Amino acid sequence: MKAILFTGYGKLEDKIILKDIPMPVATENEVLIQVFAASINPVDYKIVQGAMRLLHRFELPQTLGFDLSGVIISVGKKVTEYHVGDEVYGRVGDTHPGTFAEYIAVEPKYLAIKPHNLSHEEASCLPLVAQTTVQALTQVCDARASQKILIHAGSGGIGVFAIQYAKYLKMHVATTTSTANVEWVKALGADVVIDYKTQNYLELIKDYDMVYDTLGAQTKLDSMHVLKPGGKLVSIVGPPDRAFAVRMNVGWLLKMFLSLMNLKINRSAKKNKIEYYYWLMQSDGKLLAEITKMVESGAIKVVIDKTFALDQGLEALQYVKAGRTKGKVVVKIR
Ligand SMILES: NC(=O)c1ccc[n+]([C@@H]2O[C@H](COP(=O)([O-])OP(=O)(O)OC[C@H]3O[C@@H](n4cnc5c(N)ncnc54)[C@H](OP(=O)(O)O)[C@@H]3O)[C@@H](O)[C@H]2O)c1
Repeated sequence: MKAILFTGYGKLEDKIILKDIPMPVATENEVLIQVFAASINPVDYKIVQGAMRLLHRFELPQTLGFDLSGVIISVGKKVTEYHVGDEVYGRVGDTHPGTFAEYIAVEPKYLAIKPHNLSHEEASCLPLVAQTTVQALTQVCDARASQKILIHAGSGGIGVFAIQYAKYLKMHVATTTSTANVEWVKALGADVVIDYKTQNYLELIKDYDMVYDTLGAQTKLDSMHVLKPGGKLVSIVGPPDRAFAVRMNVGWLLKMFLSLMNLKINRSAKKNKIEYYYWLMQSDGKLLAEITKMVESGAIKVVIDKTFALDQGLEALQYVKAGRTKGKVVVKIR
């Protein structure tokens, strides 16, 4: 079967190849899926650049891709929850990417039945961004109706879902984007759309309950100033924090390193009397099944910027790496 692999850590143009590799064989605890579509997330190119190396070293070459939508073609004998022919979608486990391929063997705990109102291309766009956002907003920050939230980068893969999810929760939503995206981002439901090319969000909004940071660096630090005392800042952009290190059970040296990396943000959070959280998504098929219901209710629209073929893996990853996508980018496999 054909798959997009990376052969080592470094520049995409040097390390991405399309290759014929053997079909995976599902264990008795897995299902074998024919992948119809796989969406790309920034983590897919960041892995090649070595961003996750401290946490996990892949055996190379390694097939890329975490998000998928497809059809089950065989079922391990200990799997009871799925059957041959089921249309499923999911975000596979952290250490087992491989959805940019014609077939993949996956543990059922990462899967849910695909929403019936979405195509495979559309469904493949949701697992990673939707689970990350539901976990960050609801599980980490306990988001509630009528609270005010600032969502950075409303036109990105995360932002498009997050705006609609926050509106589903009946929150008041402000978001940032560039001039060309203002109108369609507004149409997703955002109450306030701030054009970061011509406006400064720090001068326009204040006393918010929550910030969802998808940009990191200085934006993470600055965003505290739109929060009221007791407000919550949740970031999905590194560096990970000590709480994450404890959750992942990493060694003391890495724990110490991450504590040092977070010194500034933690001090600033304390000074500004806000709560700061870093969140790294955890794939959970049960949560995804709940998301399926929300999607089937019509609350969430998928925005696909561009679709690439499997033999265009390098172009697709470079397109996402350029950081200007409007919604999601998909690799259409079948
Ligand atoms: N921790 C986790 O579990 C987790 C999970 C998912 C994603 N992430 C991370 O979250 C980040 C966002 O992911 P994504 O999928 O949304 O990325 P993406 O789709 O590649 O984001 C691209 C979008 O960012 C917007 N953007 C760039 N600079 C901006 C700025 N200064 N202000 C406002 N918007 C800006 C761009 O809009 P313009 O063209 O208008 O600038 C574009 O629409 C990535 O770093 C990703 O790795 C982390």
